[in-house]
Amino acid sequence: MTEPPLIRFVVCVGDVCDREGRGSVLHERLSEALDFDFGKGIAAGEIACVRRSCLRHCSRGIPMVRIEPSGDVHADPDIEQMLDLVVEALAG
Ligand code: FES
Repeated sequence: MTEPPLIRFVVCVGDVCDREGRGSVLHERLSEALDFDFGKGIAAGEIACVRRSCLRHCSRGIPMVRIEPSGDVHADPDIEQMLDLVVEALAG
């Protein structure tokens, strides 16, 4: 059985969050930053960044991201803040 990632970012690209393409841009930027800083962790399956159509936290076109396994939800988060969460997750 495959282990779940230590941390997973679920970026909403539903109709509200991706209004004007902001959810898709956030997913792309976060994926690139994670790959740049934590490429080995992504390849090992410890870190993941996926897209979802709606997280049921729609908020006026502001892209939402759910962090798993904590379940915390962030509105239009700062990329550096997300990278800090990865460092914390890897530190255990
Ligand atoms: S469309 Fe993103 S939370 Fe609903």
